[in-house]
Amino acid sequence: MCGIVGVVGSKNATDILIQGLQKLEYRGYDSAGIFVSDERKNQSIIKAVGRISSLQEKIGIEVNGSIGIGHTRWATHGKPTENNAHPHASESNRILLVHNGVVENYKEIKTEYLNGHHFIGETDTEVCAHLIGKFIEVDHLTPKDAFVKALGIIEGSYAFAMVDREDPTVIYVAKNKSPLLVGLGEGYNMVGSDAMAMIRETKQFLEIHDKEVVIVKKDSVEILDEAGIQQERDAFTAELDLSDIGKGTYPYYMLKEIDEQPAVMRRIMQNYFKDGKYLVADEIKKAVIEADRIYIVAAGTSYHAGYASKTFFEELTDTPVELCIASEFGYNLPLLSKKPLFIYISQSGETADSRQVLVKTKELGYPALTVTNVPGSTLSREADFTMALHAGPEIAVASTKAYTAQIAVMSILAKAVGEEIGNEKAKSFNLIQELSLVATSMVATLAEKEWIESKVAEYLKDTRNAFYIGRGQDYFVSMEAALKLKEISYIQCEGFAAGELKHGTIALIEEGTPVLAIISNKSIASHTRGNIMEVSSRGANVLKVVSADCQEEGDDILVGNVHSYLTSLAMVIPTQLIAYYATLQRGLDVDKPRNLAKSVTVE
Ligand code: M6R
Repeated sequence: MCGIVGVVGSKNATDILIQGLQKLEYRGYDSAGIFVSDERKNQSIIKAVGRISSLQEKIGIEVNGSIGIGHTRWATHGKPTENNAHPHASESNRILLVHNGVVENYKEIKTEYLNGHHFIGETDTEVCAHLIGKFIEVDHLTPKDAFVKALGIIEGSYAFAMVDREDPTVIYVAKNKSPLLVGLGEGYNMVGSDAMAMIRETKQFLEIHDKEVVIVKKDSVEILDEAGIQQERDAFTAELDLSDIGKGTYPYYMLKEIDEQPAVMRRIMQNYFKDGKYLVADEIKKAVIEADRIYIVAAGTSYHAGYASKTFFEELTDTPVELCIASEFGYNLPLLSKKPLFIYISQSGETADSRQVLVKTKELGYPALTVTNVPGSTLSREADFTMALHAGPEIAVASTKAYTAQIAVMSILAKAVGEEIGNEKAKSFNLIQELSLVATSMVATLAEKEWIESKVAEYLKDTRNAFYIGRGQDYFVSMEAALKLKEISYIQCEGFAAGELKHGTIALIEEGTPVLAIISNKSIASHTRGNIMEVSSRGANVLKVVSADCQEEGDDILVGNVHSYLTSLAMVIPTQLIAYYATLQRGLDVDKPRNLAKSVTVE
């Protein structure tokens, strides 16, 4: 949450910052701000509440320079006001600081070090700027030493970029638990929360490790570890294309990403299957085989993808799978088995809730695999093994193609392990053929957008609440479908096990309540249809999303058949489109729902 970008040594600092912030807007869009300076110290700070576009409107052509830092905020401490927008200044205004993360001891810092200081906002970041400024002005430390001293006091998560107005040729950066990268250019260098923010300028990047301090100048980058010892580090090339991160002709990223799913399925097959073999590293298979239980740790949509993977994973690998909500794991620690393997499923690879579990399970000495769309992300670096999703950047806050990619990659892993251990079901399961069928089913559903849009207008217009119901795999899809609908359309929606409604929640069904039923399993279809009757007779308006082999007259949306292990991959597509059109019909911003951010880097 929150995005940071900085550049030093360029002629167009303002343009580079704005372009970078636009790419980071998915990380938060409560307010934005920049600081730019030229070498003669002509300097500007501009801030605006809301989106980057509001900031842009306030920037005149005279605002430019050779160095700058910028920030887009997801509010944690204090409301989204201009006073709380970054960059924040020290008391004398000399130090400017942008920050992503949460400083846990900012109140103690205020009391212990900053008595008598006047703060204009309520953020933890402003406290840090004052602390650094105080070490320069009162203790006469250099900006670098003041920065380092402050980092020794600050507790919590941070990615910081700092500029000293007296010397506008250096950006001081540091990180702990929050993401930050250095981008390398010819005659200029950059910093940013991710590679996308810098990819227009460079494809060469340097990782920063937690607790390191990095001194970025136009023609040098110096990395110091916690003890102040200089570190050598090789640059890496990011395999990102500018076109991957654009919307193209689509009105919203979410629609583009929904449409990309058949192609993502094919890309996953290409990356993980060659010459009749599943390409999963031997040590990853070994880790699964040696485990007596798999713990999947994840949040939100990734957690739902874990559920959708549970059945086939257990059946193909003969290993029980337990699902853990990352943010609960620390307090509700399940009784762990003797040889657990932890699988962290995360689109971004940066989710703080999952990361705190990873740190804990590593301390306990347990092996960890991260399944992520961002190899090189924190969860990927810190786990023993990584499997990539190959879904391409997902930019809409609502996750779509990452969900289906996560399930597909988990199925590859389960199949590869199952074959290795001689599991009969795995041997007879032609996964590549089945994933191709999934892609075909997805294409057919995506061709029915207009029909689905009309159904949304018919069933969800003006409603304030709705229910998704299903059994088995369809229940897991219902949870994900409900999350998608509520997070972007703001329709209050719950995903329920169809048989569970009558144990209490059915009391909420009244005349016209939309109930969206998912049916993809012939053997339990009649039970779900029974539940449909129960809610219909109490006035519910039931929309039925049904696989072709379960079809009956009067069903609303049909989905092409796929293997029973993989029904989530096919059944989720109409529900993503339902969420998309419900949001569009309400005139809301599909890609940037209120209160949310794409990458949740605070606990
Ligand atoms: O990056 P992650 O997959 O770890 O993110 C976890 C959740 O925050 C995420 O899946 C969230 O629920 C989705 N954006 C919802 O669409």
